[in-house]
Amino acid sequence: MAAAAANAPLVRLTNVSKHFGEGETRVDALRDVSIDVYPGEVVALLGPSGSGKTTLLNVIGCILDPSAGSMELDGERVLDNGRWLRSNLRQLRLDKIGFIFQFHNLIPFLDATDNVALVLQLAGRNAGAARSRAVELLDYLEVGHRKGSMPAQLSGGEAQRVAIARALANQPRIILADEPTAALDSKRAGIVMDLLRKVAVEHDAAIIAVTHDEKIFDRFDKIFGLRDGMLDDTGIDRRPANAIAPETA
Ligand SMILES: Nc1ncnc2c1ncn2[C@@H]1O[C@H](COP(=O)(O)OP(=O)(O)OP(=O)(O)O)[C@@H](O)[C@H]1O
Ligand SMILES: [Mg+2]
Repeated sequence: MAAAAANAPLVRLTNVSKHFGEGETRVDALRDVSIDVYPGEVVALLGPSGSGKTTLLNVIGCILDPSAGSMELDGERVLDNGRWLRSNLRQLRLDKIGFIFQFHNLIPFLDATDNVALVLQLAGRNAGAARSRAVELLDYLEVGHRKGSMPAQLSGGEAQRVAIARALANQPRIILADEPTAALDSKRAGIVMDLLRKVAVEHDAAIIAVTHDEKIFDRFDKIFGLRDGMLDDTGIDRRPANAIAPETA
């Protein structure tokens, strides 16, 4: 993805810090984190428990208020010196960001189609248009044959693919995933990673995934290591040197 790297980053964090509490109970969950993620990239956040991975994902997802730093998402400066520049963060999230969680978090009393259609309706589509777009997305994620199933009837891999369809519904270019494959066996983890790669390539999206999952380390373009809230390296590029040349296939 050398060509993509010439573009502007989709996610740029500059010296972002986040602490919880004050005084003796203060926890510095992120310290001066700076990262760039480019369109088409699939990157991992890796680090021990408590190192700040989920905190970082939640800051990028505009779910958690950072204490300091700046952030640009999809070319828009959204955070400056620890202050949000937008009052409507919910709209920002709906427009720009898709979330995928370790456990799919599907709504148990809605079928697969309606789980996806719901976020489309939240973004303003009418019910009929939302449902037909939802079915298209389920087909794209190769789970269209389960469109009428309830979450409890789906296998782990199928439920995760429905959850990815939901994350993609509003065509966000930034996809954040917290341990997306941890609950899956290696075959299904591989399928999910292949689909995330397809999304990154076909939609020029950036995928940022927290993972401990050694089965899928080789699926990432870069791995950002976190330790005690600090990056231990600024984006180790995991691709072999000969893979960084522009792709011709
Ligand atoms: N809401 C909160 N209030 C206080 N401390 C918090 C809060 N959320 C996280 N922390 C602390 O911030 C640090 C980073 O937590 P975080 O959840 O980001 O870790 P993590 O790397 O995702 O860990 P894990 O691999 O266990 O999920 C930890 O010390 C945690 O206890
Ligand atoms: Mg976590």
